[in-house]
Amino acid sequence: MDSPSAPAHRGLLPSQGLLLAASLLTFWSLPTTAQLTMESVPPNAVEGQDVLLRVHNLPGNVAAYHWYKGKIWESDRIVSYVIGTQIITFGPANSGRETIYPNGSLLLQKVTLKDTGKYVLQVILKDYDDKIVTGELHVYPSFLTFWSLPSTAQFTMESVLPNAAEGKEVLLRFHNLPGDLKRYAWYKGEVKENNEIVSYVIETQTTIHGPAYSGRETIYPNGSLLLQKVTVKDTGEYNLQVILKDYATKQVTGQLHVYRE
Ligand SMILES: *[C@@H]1O[C@H](CO)[C@@H](O)[C@H](O)[C@H]1NC(C)=O
Ligand SMILES: *[C@@H]1O[C@H](CO)[C@@H](O)[C@H](O)[C@H]1NC(C)=O
Repeated sequence: MDSPSAPAHRGLLPSQGLLLAASLLTFWSLPTTAQLTMESVPPNAVEGQDVLLRVHNLPGNVAAYHWYKGKIWESDRIVSYVIGTQIITFGPANSGRETIYPNGSLLLQKVTLKDTGKYVLQVILKDYDDKIVTGELHVYPSFLTFWSLPSTAQFTMESVLPNAAEGKEVLLRFHNLPGDLKRYAWYKGEVKENNEIVSYVIETQTTIHGPAYSGRETIYPNGSLLLQKVTVKDTGEYNLQVILKDYATKQVTGQLHVYRE
């Protein structure tokens, strides 16, 4: 968290340090002059994570909070909190995943892509004046699924771990496999020899590592691929090619996003 006056530290002579400390103290002891701010923790949310919308520099004479998703009107109201009575009332825009704290911060649990958007906090003061702060939350998909098989749309790939943050494990698994399989092959990028990570021959239960194998991938007999200790470099397109016993092939494509926390 940066204090609003942090940049003022730059280029100061030592003798000015004391003066700065004194003025900072004055600044912090007058909360009404400090600007009300909101931050999202973490700043880049990924589907499935919990996100805290933190409020800083609240004035001292708060009577109530109202959180809105979008605009300040009743249909966008998520939740309200009245300090004096400690009563919490949920509005029409609540999803059942929000928690409001006495300090005004709002916790959003297991965020979804739909939680992306503008959040507004209205702080009602004891003198009936109000203060408003807005923030923008962006929730990123942990895994985007594309259909590469228009004829068999049920054959899909997904990332099991909803949170593809660096260092984590990600399981790429797929559903509704076509029957009579002979072999699976995973590719990082388009399906070509140099991009092959690993393949698995079902009959002989043989695993064969390809040129794109990094040592962190494990293929399971059901075709799912486990990526261990993912890095941002693992971000990109993944293709799974399935070879059937009649040598017909089917393919599914997915996009993995790995984020720095
Ligand atoms: C408000 O309270 C919550 C829950 O106790 C806490 O996690 C958060 O850090 C607090 N916000 C601020 C700005 O201190
Ligand atoms: C495939 O096997 C792995 C490891 O046993 C398991 O975690 C995963 O859920 C399985 N995939 C499917 C689609 O069931």
